[in-house]
Amino acid sequence: MSSDAGPRRVAVIGFGHQGEAQALNLRDSGWNVVVGAREGRDAESRSRAHGFETLPPPAAAALAESVALLLPDEALRQAWPAIRSSLREGVTLVFAHGFNLVYGDLGFPRDADVVLVSPSGPGRVLREVAAAGGRLPAYVAAHHDASGRALERAEAYAHAAGCGPLWRTTVRDETEVDLFGEQAVLCGGMNALVTAAFETLVEAGYAPELAYLECVHQLRYLAELLHERGVAGLRRSISGTALYGDLTRGPRVIGGASRKAMREVLEEIRSGAFAREWMAEAAQGRPRLAALQFEAEIHAIEEARRGALGPPRNQVRGGEPGHGSGPTRA
Ligand SMILES: NC(=O)c1ccc[n+]([C@@H]2O[C@H](COP(=O)([O-])OP(=O)(O)OC[C@H]3O[C@@H](n4cnc5c(N)ncnc54)[C@H](OP(=O)(O)O)[C@@H]3O)[C@@H](O)[C@H]2O)c1
Repeated sequence: MSSDAGPRRVAVIGFGHQGEAQALNLRDSGWNVVVGAREGRDAESRSRAHGFETLPPPAAAALAESVALLLPDEALRQAWPAIRSSLREGVTLVFAHGFNLVYGDLGFPRDADVVLVSPSGPGRVLREVAAAGGRLPAYVAAHHDASGRALERAEAYAHAAGCGPLWRTTVRDETEVDLFGEQAVLCGGMNALVTAAFETLVEAGYAPELAYLECVHQLRYLAELLHERGVAGLRRSISGTALYGDLTRGPRVIGGASRKAMREVLEEIRSGAFAREWMAEAAQGRPRLAALQFEAEIHAIEEARRGALGPPRNQVRGGEPGHGSGPTRA
């Protein structure tokens, strides 16, 4: 058995967004990686194409001193019993998100260390940053410390997976903040904001393509400024007109009603109501999610995107400015 200081045999269970990135980074760091993937599925062939030894999840877990459980949160409960029964004594179990630690009832072996290593970004970014010699900040926490060295082992794993600096936190804080961030801002809030702004302009008679370019497409440039310079730095980088509109109109758009909704959303996360709702939906085969996703995919904003970013058109369209005129591109 290798020492804690040296490279370890690690099983990466799940070869999706995080699994692929972490497996590649761990291998580049000199760790001995075996991938756990379902037979005959896409993840298995992608893992093999990257040259990883690839086995069914329980067989991969049986070989390793550390097991990273990088399956979708909603899939882990079903896959867990078979993986659990094949774990080695004294294993370190690594989670990338605390969802199943806070809301689940997995039942861990008493001699296992259970830790959280949660990169602060998508797997693709984790891989790109590490491949370029950098690191992505991550949260680490110990959920169950059987060895007395769980946090140390979490930090060794995080380092090898391309993470840093590492922020020590609790599993509960990581889980609640992560869910709130994706619901209120990064996914839910952002998508609802751009869709509502798009609809407002189109309802007022503006060209959908113009509305798309203004309210969706340009977001990237501002998000990059926000990332690089922070809120105050972004504000120092925009025109006086934009700044005045930002500070006087922004708090009206995200006003009392939105803050109340944010507090309610946070409470549903903290009480476990969101997790129970999502697990019940997943157990039924996601009928509501499928219907909502279908509606979103046929929304006019997608047609506007194709129009705004598709091949250039030769003719000027539309009538009076602000009432149906389309953007013209050479
Ligand atoms: N997405 C991110 O970048 C991100 C960021 C931070 C933390 N996390 C956390 O990282 C963990 C993994 O998330 P992810 O987004 O990387 O997952 P994912 O890409 O959605 O899925 C991972 C892989 O799991 C496989 N899979 C699905 N059900 C399975 C089952 N029952 N048994 C075995 N394999 C199964 C799928 O491959 P096949 O269908 O081909 O078998 C898929 O490629 C989660 O805890 C998530 O919260 C994710």
